[in-house]
Amino acid sequence: MKSRLAVALVLAPLSIAALTPLAAQSPVMPTPAVLTIHADQPLHAVSPTLYGLMTEEINYSYDGGLYPEMVRNRTLRDGGWEQQDWILLQNASAGATMSRDKSTGPSAALTNSLRLTVTSASAAQPAGVRNNGFWGFPLRPQTAYRASLYAKADAIGALTVSLVNNQTGKAVASATIPAISADWKQYSVTLRTGAIQPSADNHLELTVTRPGTLWMTLVSVFPPTYNNRPNGNRIDLMQKMADLHPQFLRFPGGNYLEGNHLADWYDWKKTIGPLVDRPTHPSPWGYHSSDGLGLLEFFEWCEDLHMKPVLAVYAGYSLEHEHIAPGKDLAPYVQDALDEIEYATGGPDTKWGAERVRDGHPAPFAIPYVEIGNEDWFDPSHTYDARFAQFHDAIKARYPSIQLIATAPITSRKPDVLDDHYYKSAEEFFADTHHYDKSDRNGPKIFVGEYATMEGTPTGDFGAALGDAAWLTGLERNSDLVVMASYAPMLVNVNPGGMQWHPDLIGYDGLSSYGSPSFYALSLFAAHLGDTVPASAITGAGPRLFYSVTECKSDGRLFLKLVNAAPQPQSLRIELPGTATHGQATLIRLHAATTAATNSLTHPRDIVPVTTAVALTGRTLAHTIPGNSIEVLEIPTR
Ligand code: AHR
Repeated sequence: MKSRLAVALVLAPLSIAALTPLAAQSPVMPTPAVLTIHADQPLHAVSPTLYGLMTEEINYSYDGGLYPEMVRNRTLRDGGWEQQDWILLQNASAGATMSRDKSTGPSAALTNSLRLTVTSASAAQPAGVRNNGFWGFPLRPQTAYRASLYAKADAIGALTVSLVNNQTGKAVASATIPAISADWKQYSVTLRTGAIQPSADNHLELTVTRPGTLWMTLVSVFPPTYNNRPNGNRIDLMQKMADLHPQFLRFPGGNYLEGNHLADWYDWKKTIGPLVDRPTHPSPWGYHSSDGLGLLEFFEWCEDLHMKPVLAVYAGYSLEHEHIAPGKDLAPYVQDALDEIEYATGGPDTKWGAERVRDGHPAPFAIPYVEIGNEDWFDPSHTYDARFAQFHDAIKARYPSIQLIATAPITSRKPDVLDDHYYKSAEEFFADTHHYDKSDRNGPKIFVGEYATMEGTPTGDFGAALGDAAWLTGLERNSDLVVMASYAPMLVNVNPGGMQWHPDLIGYDGLSSYGSPSFYALSLFAAHLGDTVPASAITGAGPRLFYSVTECKSDGRLFLKLVNAAPQPQSLRIELPGTATHGQATLIRLHAATTAATNSLTHPRDIVPVTTAVALTGRTLAHTIPGNSIEVLEIPTR
């Protein structure tokens, strides 16, 4: 349960009472609050899956983000392709035109290609096109990039693929394909950089030296990936997610599951298999999705980070208030969901399991949860109850052990789990931390599938972290009922035009990434989850102090999480009756001077946890938590 975060570590044998270096900023409250923890009185188990991730294609989360393809609009499906993505190289002595040809492509799925018609070109004056990438091509020194494309040509000869620095106009890596055939074929080369400075100020050039015609599509430049997976994920973002200790991944959305219109639903069958067979699709967040990160890649992402898949299946409702009527109209979608589950979990003797094996993943995946739809409370036709029932009955008949998640309250069936979403201000979260204290324990379990304190942009500020952390203390306290929780949205490309929603948890450009203060709070909470909630009570605390206590029974550690959302410090007497404390406790503190303080791409570590060792002095601990602070106190009890 140790945090893998690189935190500033300060080891000093202090008494807890002495841990108040920040308290000098404002007076300590005169009467300490008393927090009594009865570690010998367990109340209930903590959900081991409480902390996880929610993901969808938004904010250039995949294309231009986690899916590290560097060529933008690689299959020429996005509008505006010739203004921003693909540009004809200006060369006064070479003659060439560029157009989008919608009549030819290498597969039934990809029928758009870029046609370059060259009337004059030579080795001294090549003709060609450039691609500007997703806000440039982020290149690092001594790195091998795999470039590939599908192409056919009429008398064009060799094709040179180069990564070119925008400032110098010089190639930093280059390779030549000796000849392009008359029929569609895939070509690939390796582009190796030398001793360059890491920079995104680069573009891709594809050039020829002879007149003729060239058609190209699915042009790709791929960097090294996490676990070296072909067509895999960006390394630093995967490491950031690993630091959140996630137990599950909810995918593929969110609104991304639904699409704006019925025709735009997440049709998973079009996202599997070779990339050349993936037609791509419009996403509801204003840009086209390459579907390079498709259904199998979601499961492999789970595999890489040891997360349980929470698979959301399309349930016949799309965002523009369009729905499929339950009954015979919905039946094909129910069958698609069954096929989807079979694709992930089936053996080679099943139709869709065999498809997964063909796609390169022989081992089946386990799916503990399937979510039916997304935010179906928005559906004005009020058909969700009947739509849910139709999916429920079909899935349970074939997969009785899969837990089914409803996205809105229903009455015709009892869902195993209900997905609640909360986007609130910090003040609203402070006022709502007891939300689940009195909830019915005989109803469905709760999945808080989306939550975020709506403060800060592009990522949440420290005030947002206080709101999120306070809210999480309530979820931990109720983790007999709340089985999972995930922040949303998780990722944001902070380049101009990259963001559709704020705040987000992890920000990045092409080369680097950072975590918001909430990212660190979530990471700390998840790294110190515990397995049992013991009885506890607090008296005399200010209204902006929030806490939760869990215990790790197996190795005898108490985890006390404290959130002080007031600007003043709060002094505390922690009573531990019936507990033998031992040795040294560990205090991890996340603090900022103001609620507006934040992390950013240029100041990624302004707010990070600081760890201090604390000498224990018996069963009563005096402790002061500074204003604007989130703390985890880890107390060994044997
Ligand atoms: O997280 C952003 C969006 O908020 C999700 O796509 C949707 O489920 C919710 O409304």
